[in-house]
Amino acid sequence: MNLSEFDSVPLRSEVSDIMDSAEIKVFNKSHSFPVVMGSEEELAIDIGSLRSQSGGVITIDPAYVNTASCQSKITYLDGEKGILRYRGYPIEQLAEKSNFLEVSYLLLNEDLPTASELENLVSQVSTSHNLDPFLNNIIKSYPNHAHPMCILSSLMVSLAVNETGGHELQSSKEASAVLAKVMAQTAILSANISRHGSGLGFIKAEQGLSYSENFLNMMFDNKGHKNFSTMASALDCIFLLHADHEQNCSTSAVRLVGSSQVSLYAALASGVNALWGPLHGGANQAVVEMLESIERDGLSFEQVLDKAKDKSDPFKLMGFGHRVYKNFDPRSKVIKSVCDRLLGDLGVDDPLLEIAKNLENAALEDDYFVSRKLYPNVDFYSGIILRTLGIPTNMFTVIFALGRLPGWFSQWFEMHSSPETKIARPRQIYNGHTNRQYIDISQRV
Ligand code: ACO
Repeated sequence: MNLSEFDSVPLRSEVSDIMDSAEIKVFNKSHSFPVVMGSEEELAIDIGSLRSQSGGVITIDPAYVNTASCQSKITYLDGEKGILRYRGYPIEQLAEKSNFLEVSYLLLNEDLPTASELENLVSQVSTSHNLDPFLNNIIKSYPNHAHPMCILSSLMVSLAVNETGGHELQSSKEASAVLAKVMAQTAILSANISRHGSGLGFIKAEQGLSYSENFLNMMFDNKGHKNFSTMASALDCIFLLHADHEQNCSTSAVRLVGSSQVSLYAALASGVNALWGPLHGGANQAVVEMLESIERDGLSFEQVLDKAKDKSDPFKLMGFGHRVYKNFDPRSKVIKSVCDRLLGDLGVDDPLLEIAKNLENAALEDDYFVSRKLYPNVDFYSGIILRTLGIPTNMFTVIFALGRLPGWFSQWFEMHSSPETKIARPRQIYNGHTNRQYIDISQRV
């Protein structure tokens, strides 16, 4: 494949004579590999047979910067153009017209549901409210100061106790019922985790409320609040925007762990664990903590940006930058408008919103951020919405996990349904000591 005439990898439609294979020359010997093309014409070289063809040579790509781990039909993302689509539908349209449960159905089933299919999913969710009491006992056994993601992780894997491993699921219809149950139960458990942390008793899920209304009410017993439906719809939009994001760190964890054919719930718990980190879903908590510290310590934006640019300082501008987006994260644009609308509707004047907007403007005018194509990501404004809803800061990443659950599940199901799936097992290049002899402890210096 001769790409020398192109500045970047061409689209298939841009070249008429593009070959279906790529040559890789290893020590003067050429090997031929198939070129795989995605439905949006992205190209990849399938190097699956490199090792056997070349007599042992492998590729190395730390952090998978340049490696597709799978082929998937669920989410399309073009980070250069700032495009995100679930099953082909632009995220902006879904955020405006759809809702979280409908999107959950879409992710798992490939198409939008009919009215009766959606009704069925809603009913499956609302009839899955009965929790085994041992799950609440796990929550109560944790000290109040335990981080909610720590408790959620143990609860997620504990769901496996009463469930099958999920390997018997043959169709997305069968899988829908399991997804509905895990979504319903995780929402209840998450609200209970939060209330336990605040020393409060648990509130039962109710039949007549939507998914997001139920969650808010289980958190705050606030279904009588005059702005309840406005608040629930902002939360629903947050869930929807987080529902999937192709092969991100936590989803890759779900697929990798799931590839050993462990229980579905153990694979989902891996997603929770991976999400917790501040470089991934934990960033929403870190952003608000950063904005709070700017307000508290009276730091100037220049001081904050200088700190973020200083390579000897581990501090980063949280909520900025992305492995894949080198343009605006399309979710952050939607979130910013949801944030403005919610605060306007509720008449809330949060000083952190002003700080966030000014900080964003300052960063977007700073050459360090501009030249590295660092833009606000999904986490930059989501925390301000969650704060406005009254959600405790340490629960923010749990909210992300609730949103991402249908994505993790759908990606797991896609992997599980593919006859080509094998256990994931990367190789390495060993660069430690070569063979040496054991030294008796008396002779070690
Ligand atoms: N603040 C300051 N500098 C940054 C930031 C940031 N937030 N993000 C990236 N950079 C710099 C890096 O130091 C690097 O500089 P260099 O070229 O001089 O070495 C350059 O930009 C490229 O960044 P990488 O670290 O190579 O980007 P990578 O793809 O590995 O990391 C990540 C992406 C983890 C998201 C990073 O941008 C970051 O840490 N951001 C802050 C945390 C955050 O908001 N995470 C949420 C991401 S969205 C999500 O997961 C839901």
